Amino acid sequence: MKCCSQCAGIERQFDQETASEELADYHREGLTGTSRALVEDLIAAGVEGATLLDIGGGVGAVQHALLAAGAASAVHVDASSAYLKAAQTEADRRGLAGRIRFWHGDFVDLAPEVAPADVVTLDRVICCYHDMPGLVRASAARAQRLYGLVYPRDAWWTRLSSRLVNAGYWLRRTPFRFFVHRTSAVDDLVRAHGFQLLSHRHTWIWQVVVYVREPA
Ligand SMILES: C[S@@+](CC[C@H](N)C(=O)[O-])C[C@H]1O[C@@H](n2cnc3c(N)ncnc32)[C@H](O)[C@@H]1O
Repeated sequence: MKCCSQCAGIERQFDQETASEELADYHREGLTGTSRALVEDLIAAGVEGATLLDIGGGVGAVQHALLAAGAASAVHVDASSAYLKAAQTEADRRGLAGRIRFWHGDFVDLAPEVAPADVVTLDRVICCYHDMPGLVRASAARAQRLYGLVYPRDAWWTRLSSRLVNAGYWLRRTPFRFFVHRTSAVDDLVRAHGFQLLSHRHTWIWQVVVYVREPA
């Protein structure tokens, strides 16, 4: 699958209506579920004064929480223009706009222009992207200390669900697809970039994984 197809699907899947709903949920409930778990584990690892690269940050919940916990600044790269706009509006509302740089596009294409950061996060992002190795390689290469991922568990029930969900997308003629990538393949790629596992937890569907760069 070429990115022109999946990226067009991302724009359609994460459109203005979905972004507004996500933002309303965020206003009502704050940071929840696996996003909250990811933030807790990163804060436990230490984010004081850190720079953050939040890829596919959606409406911005993870970056707001890490900035509130002491991170210095953030860069948010997102393939959805509607999510990016919602995140910008929310950052303005919270008085954080001066500490976050927003960038629209496919991170795999933009990566050579994006500066490395102390902490890199992809919260429920690699499941929305066809080229997992390309995305993990490009993002892990930009992470100087911590690398945090939330992605689906590699289990028969998540693979079955992804088939059913993708059949629904096919019937609705939307080019977006949901991916359950092999955990061992993701883990091998991250470790090959010099990281070791720091924490791992999971729900029935998702796994929350934080890696730390091994000392040189
Ligand atoms: C399911 S949403 C998750 C949003 C947010 N991180 C959260 O957990 O609520 C997936 C996000 O990843 C973004 N995304 C997927 N692939 C991407 C890529 N290659 N480059 C940049 N953003 C990407 C989408 O635009 C969307 O904002």
